[in-house]
Formats: sequence, C-alpha cells, structure tokens
Amino acid sequence: AVNIRGRNFLKLLDFTPDEIRYLLRLSAQFKELKLSGTPHRYLEGKNIVLLFEKTSTRTRCSFEVAGMDLGMGVTYLDPGSSQMGKKESIEDTARVLGRMYDGIEYRGFSQELVEEMGAKAGVPVWNGLTDLFHPTQMLADILTVQENFEDGIKGKKFVFFGDARNNVANSLMVVCSKLGLNFVACGPKDRMPEEWLVDTCKELAAESGGSVTLTEDAAAAATGAHVLYTDIWVSMGEPDEVWASRIAELEAYRVTQELVDKADPEAIFMHCLPSFHDTNTTIGAEIAKKFGVTEMEVEDRVFEGPRSRVFDEAENRMHTIKAVMYATLS
Ligand code: CP
Ligand code: NVA
Repeated sequence: AVNIRGRNFLKLLDFTPDEIRYLLRLSAQFKELKLSGTPHRYLEGKNIVLLFEKTSTRTRCSFEVAGMDLGMGVTYLDPGSSQMGKKESIEDTARVLGRMYDGIEYRGFSQELVEEMGAKAGVPVWNGLTDLFHPTQMLADILTVQENFEDGIKGKKFVFFGDARNNVANSLMVVCSKLGLNFVACGPKDRMPEEWLVDTCKELAAESGGSVTLTEDAAAAATGAHVLYTDIWVSMGEPDEVWASRIAELEAYRVTQELVDKADPEAIFMHCLPSFHDTNTTIGAEIAKKFGVTEMEVEDRVFEGPRSRVFDEAENRMHTIKAVMYATLS
C-alpha cells in the first residue's frame, strides 16, 4: 500500500507512478465529497502556513480552501511580509515555522530554496511553484485529462506549445513521462526544457511506455493531439523587458483554432492560468498593443471555445492540493 505520510511534496521526480496515481485517486474522492456537500474535516486541530514570495490566485486560494475544508487553521504570509529574505534565512524560517505548523506551503524562486526549506522544516513542505517546477499544478492537470478520457490517459498525446522551458512545461514533461503519456514539447529550440531533464524524462518514459518528443513544428505537434496546453509567455520572476523577444520567438506557437482543428476530435485545450487570452480586457491589452499583436499564447476563441477545460482545471487545483495535504499529514 502507498503511504506518503510525513513526506515533502517538492517535485514529482521524487514520487513513483503508483504514488502519483494514489494522489489522483484521493483527489477524485475529495472532489466527490466536496461536490456532494459531505464534510471532511479530517485534519481538525492542525495548522498550516502558506508562504508566498510571488503572487498567486489559484494556488493560494486552493491551499486556503482545502485547508479550511479539512478543518485546519491557515496562515497566509504574502510576498515581503515575513522576515525571510530580509533579516532571516530560509533555514531559520523553516525551523521556526516547523515548530509552529504541521505543514508549510512555499512558493519561491529557485527550486534549491524550496528544497532547503523542505530539508530543514521538520514538517511536510509543499512546493507551490518555483522557477523550475510546479508539481501541485500537474496533479490538477492530469485529473482533468482523466475526467475527459474515459479510456484512460496512457498513450494520449499531450502537447505543450510555447515556452517549453518554463516550470509548467518541465513539470508536465515529468508527470507525462511517469504516467505513460506521449509528451511533446513544441516551441523554438532555445525555449526547450534543459537537457538533463529531457534525458531523465526519456528514461522514465521508456519505463512507463510513454514518450518525450521535442519539436519546432506546431502543425505536426497538433496533429492527432489529445491535449493542447499552453502557458503565459513570460513567467513570474522574469523581467518585463523579455516580452518583446518572447513574443517574436513564440508567436508561431500560439494555440490557434487552426491547430485545434488538426487535433483529435475529442481533444481538450488546457492552460494553468493566469492567461493573456483576451487582449481587450486584461493587462495583456497593454502589452499586446505595445508590441502590435492582437492575440497572445492562445486565441480567445480557443480559450472560450467548446474544447476548453481551463476552469475545470483551475477547480481541480483545490481538490488535488487537498489530497496532497491529507496524504502527507494524516
Ligand atoms: N496556476 C497557478 O498556479 O495560478 P496562480 O499563480 O494564480 O496560483
Ligand atoms: N509559468 C507561469 C506559471 C504560473 C502559474 C509562471 O511561473 O509565472
């Protein structure tokens, strides 16, 4: 039987396929409890702290609601509001928080810092996103794929378009290669995942029956795809100045209706959000106007279209994060 009690949740590379499948089953169960209105205050009396060095909507709210649904007390520390990084090291912060709380969520910059927090806290630490990985996002994403393909996720063609070097693309490559999907990173050569990670994932895929492919050809990548996925073209922590070059590099990898039409008829569109899909109503408008584009990483008609599952995906963040906390704390 799978048991991950007391473990950190820092990256999916640390978890076996069976452990990931267990978390997905637990997530589906928690979703049922939530949707049927069945109380599940299984962690009453425990307390968690959410430490964010970058902004967040989904991850923060998922941890808060999931924590409260499980009966826990929740403290939120927003970017810049603790001593950490100013007067106090990660190491000391970890040891202090670990004395007070039963679990720590941490959204930081480098993966090394989150690993350090995990090594020193003495209680489970959950990675709420680093520059390298976003592991809680992946559970929500795979749950969403499962919900849409009753014949299972194995062998499905999962294509990430755009900045294939970012945290979300990296993590998708890991989870797909662990669970036997055919992962395709589609973008310019310079924005592909780092070689060491590609090599690691190719080995994992060889064990699970999946595959990892890197391509610059968007039309070929979209052909027969079951999942078309993209993310914002400039990630948190990157300077605004990169927008100009990023738009020029990635425009050929926008998820268009034309690409969706090449995909499997049952294909779904996914995006971890936040997104600059509607350049009329969001801050994306300013950036788009400045650089003379009318669409960003995905066409609005795809984002709003019948194949889009982006809000199911967002909701699933909460159910899956609940599963991670329950499995590591109960
Ligand atoms: N997808 C995601 O992590 O969103 P937030 O940055 O809003 O948490
Ligand atoms: N790649 C994005 C994901 C946000 C959830 C970022 O890091 O900003």
